[in-house]
Amino acid sequence: MHARAVAATTTALLGAALLAPASLAQASHGGPGPVVVAHRGASAYAPENTLAAVDKAAELGIDWVENDVQRTKDGELVVIHDESLRRTTDVEEVFPDRAPWNVKDFTAAEIARLDAGSWFGAAYAGARVPTLEQYVGRVERHHQKLLLEIKSPELYPGIERETLKVLGNEGWLDRRHVSGRLVVQSFGVDCVRTVHELKPAVRTGLLGTPRVSDLPAYAEFTDQINPSYDSLSLGYVSAVQAFTGPHGRPLEVFAWTVDEAADARLTAGYGVDGIITNRPDVIRDATRGEASDGEV
Ligand code: G3P
Ligand code: CA
Repeated sequence: MHARAVAATTTALLGAALLAPASLAQASHGGPGPVVVAHRGASAYAPENTLAAVDKAAELGIDWVENDVQRTKDGELVVIHDESLRRTTDVEEVFPDRAPWNVKDFTAAEIARLDAGSWFGAAYAGARVPTLEQYVGRVERHHQKLLLEIKSPELYPGIERETLKVLGNEGWLDRRHVSGRLVVQSFGVDCVRTVHELKPAVRTGLLGTPRVSDLPAYAEFTDQINPSYDSLSLGYVSAVQAFTGPHGRPLEVFAWTVDEAADARLTAGYGVDGIITNRPDVIRDATRGEASDGEV
């Protein structure tokens, strides 16, 4: 059995805190337990995918943030999860005749007018949908790391090259960033493969739970397999980690979206390398043996 699976099995049986497996991701945060990634920023506490959510993650001491990248009508890359602006902005009020309010049908200037914070709480009124450039600038300011998701790449032909161009312009493709501070992920297999082909030094992640029989092909161009946590098992995680990725290291597993301490301990017990969560403080504490909600 893989050494990491042995450690995970022991931990799961004991029901204790996770014994840390060695991995590139875990080396990058230096502590025990899986890497904790703030999903859409610290999105339980601040409006998702805004600069405020990045700030909140930094305030909590969280190194890694995840985001979602899409493209406006005039070609600007912006950070927002849904294809429509409706749920997380006031677009219906500002542009009442533009249903279904899809990101790709609005210019960057139009999107910059929208309030992306009030839906979450009055304290965040006036927060904006950030451009990717603004977003990576804020992540850099906090010395954080970025798990960047290219969202719905089938809607945005060429978005892989454009994303890498912004990252390059912002200084995120130098050795220091690509070796430990950046992963580009997507649900799109072709998207992940394209990112790898365009910039082989960049670490990549494939979202989903592909069949183990497909992993030899995927390990040619992805460094991570990132599944929904409720699709996982100890056997699946160790099967993924038995493959070697394009940078000569075992494939990693970052599981999403884990918001409860008990789920986090179970998922950590499978030996995952990272956990993506809206409540990064809770999950960090749960997976490092520190009480956060009275369950530890
Ligand atoms: O990072 C994993 C997770 O973000 C994928 O799902 O829908 O939240 O983008 P979603
Ligand atoms: Ca995402």
